[in-house]
Amino acid sequence: MEATRFRIPVLLLLRLLGSVLVAESAIAFNWGTVSSHRLSPSVVVDLLKQNKIQKVKLFSADPYILKALKGSGIQVMVGIPNEMLQEFASSPVAADAWVRQNVSTYAFKGGVDIRYVAVGNEPFLTSYNGQFQSFVLPALANLQQSLAKLNLAGYVKLVVPCNADAYEGAVPSQGSFRPELSQIMTQLVSFLNSNGSPFIVNIYPFLSLYGNKDFPQDYAFFDGTSHPVMDGANVYTNAFDGNLDTLVAALNRLGYSQMPIVIGEVGWPTDGDINANLTAARAFNQGLINHVLKGYGTPLRPGVPPMDVYLFSLLDEEAKSVLPGNFERHWGVFSFDGQAKYPLNIGTGRRLANAKDVEYLPSRWCVADPSKDLSGVTNHLKLACSVADCTTLLYGGSCNSIGDKGNISYAFNSYYQVLKQDEKSCDFDGFGMVTFLDPSIGDCHFLVGITNANTAVVRVLSIWVWGLWMSVILRLWGCL
Ligand SMILES: *[C@@H]1O[C@H](CO)[C@@H](O)[C@H](O)[C@H]1NC(C)=O
Ligand SMILES: *[C@@H]1O[C@H](CO)[C@@H](O)[C@H](O)[C@H]1NC(C)=O
Ligand SMILES: *[C@@H]1O[C@H](CO)[C@@H](O)[C@H](O)[C@H]1NC(C)=O
Repeated sequence: MEATRFRIPVLLLLRLLGSVLVAESAIAFNWGTVSSHRLSPSVVVDLLKQNKIQKVKLFSADPYILKALKGSGIQVMVGIPNEMLQEFASSPVAADAWVRQNVSTYAFKGGVDIRYVAVGNEPFLTSYNGQFQSFVLPALANLQQSLAKLNLAGYVKLVVPCNADAYEGAVPSQGSFRPELSQIMTQLVSFLNSNGSPFIVNIYPFLSLYGNKDFPQDYAFFDGTSHPVMDGANVYTNAFDGNLDTLVAALNRLGYSQMPIVIGEVGWPTDGDINANLTAARAFNQGLINHVLKGYGTPLRPGVPPMDVYLFSLLDEEAKSVLPGNFERHWGVFSFDGQAKYPLNIGTGRRLANAKDVEYLPSRWCVADPSKDLSGVTNHLKLACSVADCTTLLYGGSCNSIGDKGNISYAFNSYYQVLKQDEKSCDFDGFGMVTFLDPSIGDCHFLVGITNANTAVVRVLSIWVWGLWMSVILRLWGCL
């Protein structure tokens, strides 16, 4: 509160001095939870607060997360998965129920500051073959009605995070939405506009580089390029601006040149591919943040940077599908346990702080027994890696060169930690053994899991232990 009071005279001063008035973009984060080592939501909320992160985007309306966000003052975007769109498109009653349970419940003083509901996630992705496309607008219409009925429509905005392949253009100024989406996009943008909602887009220069051998590497970053894109009088030196202006041109074409744009996802992974490493991720994210916070905007929108930028992602999610690539589990700016992977200044003037009060399992690891002939363990390795994450072992990963035995140990340990160091999970028919010496080698980190203090399993276990004690006590009592 005090900060805002001081900000006004500063802005006035800037104006009086005739300086450029910089539009303020917020650096925000995506908080995904497809993880086999889930930090407790309250630890994550504390991490957000410590780092002055004021906005987060969720992919669902997880009640445990929302409960932890209560009273935090953090602005939240909750999400509706694509699979639920059909139901909300056809049933106003279902839409009402969702809004009541997942938005309205939290909308009180000291509750959760839900500002946006993301209706679907990249529903127009080409690889979905249009299966969600036709549900988007009817679902929006029903959900909007539900918000209105509950008096939330003025405060909570519906949005649709779009993937960047919804539009195309040989150069940015020629940007337009994909022809088969043109009608839907016209309706969507009109809906967003009449509702005061921004257009949300996910932009991934990393994927451009990953998917195209000829993509000039330096064009993905923000330090200038030997391959600028010339577009009339406009020169593009980074893929992010080029991509964003392609969207701006597509929106201009539909007559919405003023529509605010929010970046729903952008980031760089740190493992699982030759272009995914700590140095590159730090360079990209810091370059992006500095670029956006300077407020220059793009050639087609000078002085107008995106309203908000949601980095992808807050934490690693090592249970995600690797269909898009092995890097998919390594997008976190923080590792699964809330430790900053590299220094990053998100506009606070200092490095990111690590999560506090993380409860780790004991410092022990499962490795391959060095005294055994390991030629017969292939199936164990496969099983371990089908449950736990082994993507760092693959080509381009941080553990790709730790050798045969190293591979086996790494897989055993990943599995052992996912199973919370359960004794039997390090057996592997006698090929595994527990060690108290950290087997990490160079950049290849052998993890120690965390205890999920909040999970149902622990709760059931503690009730069971408590029950055991009670029966012992009762029995002793009976003996007396
Ligand atoms: C609220 O959201 C959660 C999580 O996305 C979902 O499981 C639940 O079904 C939703 N509630 C309703 C009434 O749809
Ligand atoms: C990290 O990724 C960058 C960006 O693509 C690449 O140029 C560099 O060679 C990588 N570094 C290592 C050590 O692999
Ligand atoms: C370890 O496993 C990875 C992934 O399967 C493989 O690329 C690498 O060659 C293996 N190392 C050895 C020494 O077998």
